[in-house]
Amino acid sequence: MTENAQLDDFDFNGLRRFPDVEAPNLFASDASDRLILATAAATLSALDDGRLAIMGDRYGALTLAAAAVFGATGIRVHQDGRSSELALRNNAARLGGAGSFRQLPLGPELFDGVSVVLWQLPRGLHELSEVADLMARHAGDDVQVFAGGRVKHMTPAMKELLRESFGTVTAGLARQKSRVLTAREPRRPAGPTRYPQREYNAELGLWICAHGATFAGTKLDIGSRYLLDFAAEMKPDAHRAIDLGCGSGVLAAALAARRPDLRVTATDQSAAAVASAKATAATNSLTGRIDVVHDDAMASFPDESAELIILNPPFHVGSSVHAGAALKLFDAAARVLSPGGELWTVFNNHLGYIGQLEQRVGRTEVRGRTAKFTVAVSTKSSGGGSRTIADRNSQQHFGSGAENYASERTWAKVCSPKRLNGGLSSE
Ligand SMILES: C[S@@+](CC[C@H](N)C(=O)[O-])C[C@H]1O[C@@H](n2cnc3c(N)ncnc32)[C@H](O)[C@@H]1O
Repeated sequence: MTENAQLDDFDFNGLRRFPDVEAPNLFASDASDRLILATAAATLSALDDGRLAIMGDRYGALTLAAAAVFGATGIRVHQDGRSSELALRNNAARLGGAGSFRQLPLGPELFDGVSVVLWQLPRGLHELSEVADLMARHAGDDVQVFAGGRVKHMTPAMKELLRESFGTVTAGLARQKSRVLTAREPRRPAGPTRYPQREYNAELGLWICAHGATFAGTKLDIGSRYLLDFAAEMKPDAHRAIDLGCGSGVLAAALAARRPDLRVTATDQSAAAVASAKATAATNSLTGRIDVVHDDAMASFPDESAELIILNPPFHVGSSVHAGAALKLFDAAARVLSPGGELWTVFNNHLGYIGQLEQRVGRTEVRGRTAKFTVAVSTKSSGGGSRTIADRNSQQHFGSGAENYASERTWAKVCSPKRLNGGLSSE
């Protein structure tokens, strides 16, 4: 029995994460989704069409349960991750609720005049601040924001930041390691939004722009900084490069600036990253040389089409540290690189990625190593890596990352169609 008996009618366990990384220890919903819905239950039951916005719904638990249990319609939803957007659509197609919501970018239309917001709180304070500010500007005077998360990811600073945007912020009791903050009385900000933020990096001679949810914000990650030491060696005859998982677009901008013959495509699954990379390109007058594409692991990029890919891989899947996110991008690079093409990666030394790169992409050479980081170049061989995809699917030896990959590919056949700016270390 959950906090609200009505919620027992919704099949939270039927939700899937696909196309995001799946694994036995990664879940599509948790107790914080149910607590947010239970806390808002009375308000949701009496809500008119089009007055509900949902922010940060990971895989659709909030949206689809609000529609199924409380009859909510015209729901406006924003999810930063492309794979979250797709997962919501996939789950709606399977469980019902497809006609109950619209997916919108983070902007005024998302919150314009709404009276209820359900919000899976982000871990990053800049993201929280940017979103709360937007709500306070555009939501209705009567808005109630039910913002929840896992207690271990919540800090007192979150409540303080919400107080900058709302006159009243109350914390509910913790239940099942989750808690909900309820915010009311929006304080309409006087000046313009602070986002995207921008900061001049004197070492690079470039501006770095970042929306709140962007990895490392306006700072240059030290792993990325090390990768740039090798910019001149990266496939010197290449005319095009891809910055995979571009974040703020700092690597794309630095590569374009250092290699005038290169045209760079920056791509990320995070909407905030894509908006930030566009701002970084524009602020450095590099728009003509950098294209920015919002995509999950280059799904829309043709096979064997790229000469050079650079990557500082993620190792978080949502709030969990998990190898699957990096492996997914290695496989994407293996598919998109043309034979002889190069994947340049930087990663913490303790991560055993060399073998994975050899197997998934091709011959891999360590080009540099510091006390903390390794830079490696993998050259795409004509048959992909030294293993075939079938081999990879049958191999279960790299912990949960490889396991989840087998399940993800199986799923793909059955079901087609993101802290303050001090974060200086690699994820
Ligand atoms: C360690 S950060 C690197 C960001 C940026 N390149 C830098 O150096 O500051 C990894 C990035 O990969 C992105 N990412 C994670 N999974 C992805 C996926 N499936 N497809 C595309 N990008 C992804 C994250 O959103 C994040 O921006």
